[in-house]
Amino acid sequence: MEEIKVRAPGRINLIGEHTDYNCGFVLPCAINQEITVAGKGRKDKKVILHSINFNRKVEINLDEKLKRRGDWSDYPVGVIDQYQKRNFSLSGMELKISGNIPLGVGLSSSAALEVATALFIKTLNNLKITKEEMGVLCQKAENEFVGVSCGIMDQFASLLSKKDFALFLDCRDLSYSCVPLPFAGYKLVLTNTKKSRKLSASAYNQRRNECEKAAELLSLNLRDISPRQFSGLKSKLPSVLQKRVQYVVEENERVLLAVENLKKNDLDSFGKLLYLSHNGLRNLYEVSCPELDLIVDEGRKIKGVIGGRMTGAGFGGCTLHLIKEEGLEKFQEKISESFLKEFHQRPDFYLCAPAPGASSVKG
Ligand code: GLA
Repeated sequence: MEEIKVRAPGRINLIGEHTDYNCGFVLPCAINQEITVAGKGRKDKKVILHSINFNRKVEINLDEKLKRRGDWSDYPVGVIDQYQKRNFSLSGMELKISGNIPLGVGLSSSAALEVATALFIKTLNNLKITKEEMGVLCQKAENEFVGVSCGIMDQFASLLSKKDFALFLDCRDLSYSCVPLPFAGYKLVLTNTKKSRKLSASAYNQRRNECEKAAELLSLNLRDISPRQFSGLKSKLPSVLQKRVQYVVEENERVLLAVENLKKNDLDSFGKLLYLSHNGLRNLYEVSCPELDLIVDEGRKIKGVIGGRMTGAGFGGCTLHLIKEEGLEKFQEKISESFLKEFHQRPDFYLCAPAPGASSVKG
């Protein structure tokens, strides 16, 4: 049988954090770290998933009820489950999964694994499903099978990004456009705190619930509130919810401004928005941590740094900085020193480039 190979990238979010599940705006882009799935069909109903990185194999049967195992295989099996729930007829298959996205640091290795599996299955079975539908299917797999109530941003970014563009996505109606990234002469740098994000799942769900509660109390979708309108509505909410809503309302506004700044090639204003976003995540949404804050605070003092913020769900993971090429070495040196002094280990740095969304790999 013919061998098929597909790839799906991880993502960074430039701005628009914790806005996707509030029907708001996000501006992520795919990065040049990715997951590859290679393999072929089988004549029977067996599926063999082979993780090269973990050196593990999991076997399932498409005619039997699919069960969660609580490990990496839940992502591809969740995708298979969603295809079957939509009555797509699938053949048995063998998948070899490998990748170079650092795991558990907020670069969406899980969304990339879901998307790569979905694209592999679509290609193998010649299924009629659009990229947008695949994105929603993958999100559902994560919500329902894996049990994480993530938004739609990561899967859409992995599927629909274009090289050197960001994906400007409206999470209410899932309409999107690509925004050119004028980053020649600059570097996008991720700094990994190496702090485990154990807390993040429960805190993530808590934030989601808080936002839902606030929307209910205001009888409004948070997306429809302008910053000016918010000052008049504030008193209807308990103080914690006031902070959460203020953040979401302002972050949506920042995404729109960021798109304008990028279109005008105004990177200084874009950089300021990154800092403002971080402040909001730190003081109002309260999903940052001392490690992320130190990197952002120290980064501000370094020449050539245009802006920076935590990226992803928070509570650890990575910061994202836009830095003039000539400032890169100083940034790494200074951040590394300050981080070591405070937290007794050095962070990791990754350079990333805005990459194309998921695709088949020829040959
Ligand atoms: C995680 C989720 C996304 C999004 C971000 C926060 O990455 O998977 O859907 O909510 O957190 O912006």
